[in-house]
Amino acid sequence: MQARFGNSEHLTQKKCFSIITRKDSPCESCPVIKSLKDKKVHTCDVKTMVTPSGKIKYFKITATPILNKDGEVENVLESFVDITEKRKRRMKHRIRSVEARRLNEEISKLVENFKKIENRHSARLKLATKELDTIYKLGNRIISSLDVKEILKSIVETVPELLRMSGCVVRIFEGSRKKLILEAASGVSKSFKQSARILPAGEGISGIVANMKKPMVIKDISKDARIKYHGECLRESMHSLLAVPIIFKNTVLGVIIAFSRKIKNFKASEVNLLSTFAAHVAIALNNAMMYEKVHLNYYNTIMTLVKTIEARDPYTCGHSERVTGYALKLAHKLNLSKEEIDILMYSGKLHDIGKIAIPDFILRKKSKLTPTEWAEIESHPVIGSEMIVHLSFLKDCIPLIRHHHERYDGNGYPDKLRENNIPFLARILSIADAFDAMTSERPYRRSLTLEQAKEEIKFNSKTQFDPDLAEVFLSIIEESSDVQIINNGSCVKFDIAS
Ligand SMILES: [Fe+2]
Repeated sequence: MQARFGNSEHLTQKKCFSIITRKDSPCESCPVIKSLKDKKVHTCDVKTMVTPSGKIKYFKITATPILNKDGEVENVLESFVDITEKRKRRMKHRIRSVEARRLNEEISKLVENFKKIENRHSARLKLATKELDTIYKLGNRIISSLDVKEILKSIVETVPELLRMSGCVVRIFEGSRKKLILEAASGVSKSFKQSARILPAGEGISGIVANMKKPMVIKDISKDARIKYHGECLRESMHSLLAVPIIFKNTVLGVIIAFSRKIKNFKASEVNLLSTFAAHVAIALNNAMMYEKVHLNYYNTIMTLVKTIEARDPYTCGHSERVTGYALKLAHKLNLSKEEIDILMYSGKLHDIGKIAIPDFILRKKSKLTPTEWAEIESHPVIGSEMIVHLSFLKDCIPLIRHHHERYDGNGYPDKLRENNIPFLARILSIADAFDAMTSERPYRRSLTLEQAKEEIKFNSKTQFDPDLAEVFLSIIEESSDVQIINNGSCVKFDIAS
């Protein structure tokens, strides 16, 4: 106590405020005054004191009124509890709490930031994973495909989705490597495909990319004079483009061009993505091109066989060519697509390929065929379709070759298909085939005249032939002023293919 307040001399007859606060007046919250007034116990939580030695101390002061027998306050007992250490501990704790709160806030901010970064990173990671997944899936699909057209279609369908672009164009070098041909495109008009189809090697962005063997980015097409089909590109509202070469073993096979209808700043990651994609495409395209080259040779071999078959039977000389001509005439009249015309062309030439398995004595027989011999003859559509089953580029011809002897009423062969169950192009081939047979010499009969053939088609409409197609075919004959039948003895040639 002495250390705190001094000795008894310092305390006796002294007012507490003069000792505690060293002031001349009582403290505002003096518990003694309160006790004197209401005769109750009062405390003053914290009171700062300066000891005689100058140290700051904190006290809890309690004032307890001592009442006389009349219930009046006679004295007030003022007790002091030193709370300096306790207060220090509390202060330390409070400081620690404040610090902890501040740290917590900082940590939560960091966590938030981390989450944002993580989300951003995660979104980027997810996007990158999706892109790689797309490339992987497409890579597998195109690598397993041996059809150049199918691969090119996959490219122009996938690239805009992969890079969030407006469209895509693929140019491939033609055989002599003097031209880059627009072989597939998405997001452009038909007229663009036609007018911008041929690009001389070395010209335009594709030509430059092919020469440099490096990707190229054009932010604003309208300001770039190197664009070959400038007007056509602007008419398609193209603004920015990214072009990458398709390189296989250091040879450029072609160029992929992805374009945007908005001004776009391409990121390095997008250029890398399309380049990676183009590397997959290069392997697939090379495989498919090699395959087609090999199978074109196979097709030529088959065509030699067709000619060999026709040579075996002088009465069928030129039959395949003529059937093809009639079928294409009908196809053009019906405005069929280029793909359908191609299918009809190959199928027309190959439709009787299965006859290679039919013995000569049956093919050349002048007398009536026995049921067994007819069965042999009727096997040729199935044999023919099986002969080409492994040639992917002729896969669309299989139904035509198999079903060119089906009849509209279901009494044909080999599957007795009827009406619209017979493939549409096979119904066209059927009319063309029958018309040539009618107008050709056979060992067992003379050829029909043109009028007789027309009557025969009319008569067999709805039974043998699709009535709508028969009508169109007849109208073609009517409209053709140069129709003539030339009988050169062993070959009957009917020329309506003007
Ligand atoms: Fe046939």
